[in-house]
Amino acid sequence: MYPRSGRTPGRAKERKKNMTDSKTATLSLDGKMLELPIHSPTAGPDVVDITKLYSQGGVFTHDPGFTSTSACESSITFIDGDKGELLHRGYPIDQLAEKSHYLEVCYLLLYGNLPSATELETFETTITRHTMLHEQMANFFRGFRRDAHPMAVMVGVVGAMSAFYHDSTDINDPRQREIASHRLIAKMPTIAAWAYKYTIGQPFVYPRNDLDYASNFLRMCFAVPAEEYVVDPILARAMDRIFTLHADHEQNASTSTVRLASSSGANPFGCIAAGIACLWGPAHGGANQACLEMLEEIGSVDRIPAYIARAKDREDPFRLMGFGHRVYKNFDPRATVMKKSADEVLDLLGIENNPKLQVAKVLEKEALNDPYFADKKLFPNVDFYSGIILEAMGFPTAMFTPIFALSRTVGWISQWKEQLADPAMKIGRPRQLYTGPTMRDYVDIENR
Ligand code: SDX
Repeated sequence: MYPRSGRTPGRAKERKKNMTDSKTATLSLDGKMLELPIHSPTAGPDVVDITKLYSQGGVFTHDPGFTSTSACESSITFIDGDKGELLHRGYPIDQLAEKSHYLEVCYLLLYGNLPSATELETFETTITRHTMLHEQMANFFRGFRRDAHPMAVMVGVVGAMSAFYHDSTDINDPRQREIASHRLIAKMPTIAAWAYKYTIGQPFVYPRNDLDYASNFLRMCFAVPAEEYVVDPILARAMDRIFTLHADHEQNASTSTVRLASSSGANPFGCIAAGIACLWGPAHGGANQACLEMLEEIGSVDRIPAYIARAKDREDPFRLMGFGHRVYKNFDPRATVMKKSADEVLDLLGIENNPKLQVAKVLEKEALNDPYFADKKLFPNVDFYSGIILEAMGFPTAMFTPIFALSRTVGWISQWKEQLADPAMKIGRPRQLYTGPTMRDYVDIENR
């Protein structure tokens, strides 16, 4: 029933050799010369291997925010920030967004290659037949207040899956890992849609096996028992493209959270719940909601200069939401596709003169012409246009990040799966630069 996962039981004995180790770096430390191996990847910068630095040199490296740190070896996604390139298993995101579809991209991320027609059919059938939730989980939703943020509901419900699906929590069993992967990909649209329905006081809509992945999600969000909901194929295609554009993105904050949680041996549902919690932050996946709220606050193009001035003012915490990226120092290729999709969807819906879209386009143009943003290489990222499309499709801003989480689940799971198969994997346990008090004796309260 499940495609071969390509992984033998237990951990792979030999690290895959897709890198070359022909160079070393020499570090002079207190008169000692340390030779550190350099690994050259198939693409991207070389890495200096410091795994022996503390044992041989007695020092740590220090890199808050991991701006210069490779935390793992991976062959899933590659980003060239300077060129604005994003590859999934070598395939450029713009080609996948145009020619592929989300479940095929899920297969590619999970198994490493584009599927044959038979493999794709088997995979899509498997996912389709796992979209329902354990009926008892409906009660779990009802424990939340109606005004709960859907992300709070998703964190809770996905974490609770480890209490409902015990037969897919053993991370050492390849088949249980496979089943957990498929259950999460399949059930996230149902969880996200039910989180939305619960917060607006409407009844849950069950998935249907005769609909594709994106159409099923739209119907579960917008159908009501009182009348049939007909999915617009153009909107379903736009929804599927948004899923594809958010599927994976190398070692971003939420993926790194999933990897760190998984390194302790935690079950897959708990690891993904941790990733959802991290994604929620406005500096990360929460930026799509924050960006649309920013465009609403700006309101009209004549107010843009004042907001650009605020974004440039180091004394003002205001930042342009949807702008800037730790890795991209060029256009985020996903934003380019998203901008084109925004024009298509709003034109189809007859709201091409949507004020927020007008503000977004002028804001982008003025920011990119401003030396501050050009010098700091701040460009629109994936979150800049996505909210405009989602709002036009009928989603409230609170649903933007849950949709991001739904899409990114396959990326989190693929990276989780890859880490479990990595012979170099051990529990993640960073050290620190300690600047607190050195040892001192306890002082009795009467002497303080
Ligand atoms: C996502 O990592 C990923 O891959 C994430 C993601 C994914 O798919 O997983 O791509 C999804 O999270 C996209 C990013 C969404 N976040 C936002 O749009 C929020 C706004 N952006 C910023 O908060 C910021 O750009 C970050 C968080 C995205 C990146 O921060 P960095 O890399 O730590 O850069 P920084 O904060 O050190 O900024 C560098 C400089 C600073 O100025 P100086 O201190 O050097 O003078 O650029 C400035 C910042 O003040 N700056 C901005 C800015 N972003 C950075 N100034 C104004 N507006 C902004 N948006």
